[in-house]
Amino acid sequence: MSSYECINLTIDGDVATIQFNRPEKKNCMSPTLHNNVRNALVEVEKARVKVLVITGIKDAFCAGMDLEQCFFEPFDDPQRMAAINDDVFTWFQHLKKFPAVTIAKVNGWCFGGGMELAGICDIAIVADESTWGLSEVNFGIFPGGGTSWAYAHNIPSRKKALYYGLTGETFTGKQAEEIGYATKSVPLAQLDAETDRVVKMLSRLGRTVLRKTKEVYEKVKWMDFEAAVDYEMAKLWELSRETNDDWIRTALASFKRREFKPGTQSYKL
Ligand code: ACO
Repeated sequence: MSSYECINLTIDGDVATIQFNRPEKKNCMSPTLHNNVRNALVEVEKARVKVLVITGIKDAFCAGMDLEQCFFEPFDDPQRMAAINDDVFTWFQHLKKFPAVTIAKVNGWCFGGGMELAGICDIAIVADESTWGLSEVNFGIFPGGGTSWAYAHNIPSRKKALYYGLTGETFTGKQAEEIGYATKSVPLAQLDAETDRVVKMLSRLGRTVLRKTKEVYEKVKWMDFEAAVDYEMAKLWELSRETNDDWIRTALASFKRREFKPGTQSYKL
């Protein structure tokens, strides 16, 4: 496993964790951090984990883009800006279609690009005490580079979404759960335990079923019902073939013998 300057990467069996490690700068994303994450995601994908947790060290999840190093300082150097953006958008896109389940574990400050990161992940488990904000308007721009996409897709109510986009008002992790941005909010003291519980639940399931569940959800969201039915059936047979029909031959054969109750138990495939 490689070591990186601005992140800590751990890979332990089926689970990888990327922890942003710029505590003195509230884990905001510098060009080096972007480059680190870009490379780390390639490494994690090769390790074929089932779950990737992304979190921050100390009191911040991620205070967004490093406003000095990513914008102010390179502004008059278009080539430098382009190189930074190449890293940024390569890893954001990679994360969006990552084969493993991605969990944002939001432990503290979460602004702008940090909210994009939490929004791209499949699941967000957050601390009640964390502070969130679309602060872009406070320095004269709109949430860009995918952040508008992220808040438009994670806050179902247009009135709530535009309220936070337009005012930049901060909200808590508890409120993030209420508006739909977070899957679940728990007291900071329980954040590790709750995340571990969810990670264990996911790790018990098959890699293929996790990957295809994500893939099918993302695609059918944009289809009409008829197309979705066709696509879902085609993907079911694809999954079946890729897993040697295990769901029938192993899991449902076991159910037929009444060895487990699929409503409340999972069969490890
Ligand atoms: N870019 C660059 N430096 C940052 C950022 C950032 N996004 N966030 C924090 N820092 C720096 C601070 O400037 C400070 O640096 P210094 O020690 O050299 O003065 C250091 O991190 C520590 O931060 P403080 O402001 O001292 O910490 P405090 O607890 O008082 O405040 C807070 C925390 C509220 C997160 C504050 O740092 C802040 O407002 N950060 C900017 C958040 C933001 O708006 N991010 C941009 C989102 S938009 C986008 O991502 C495109």
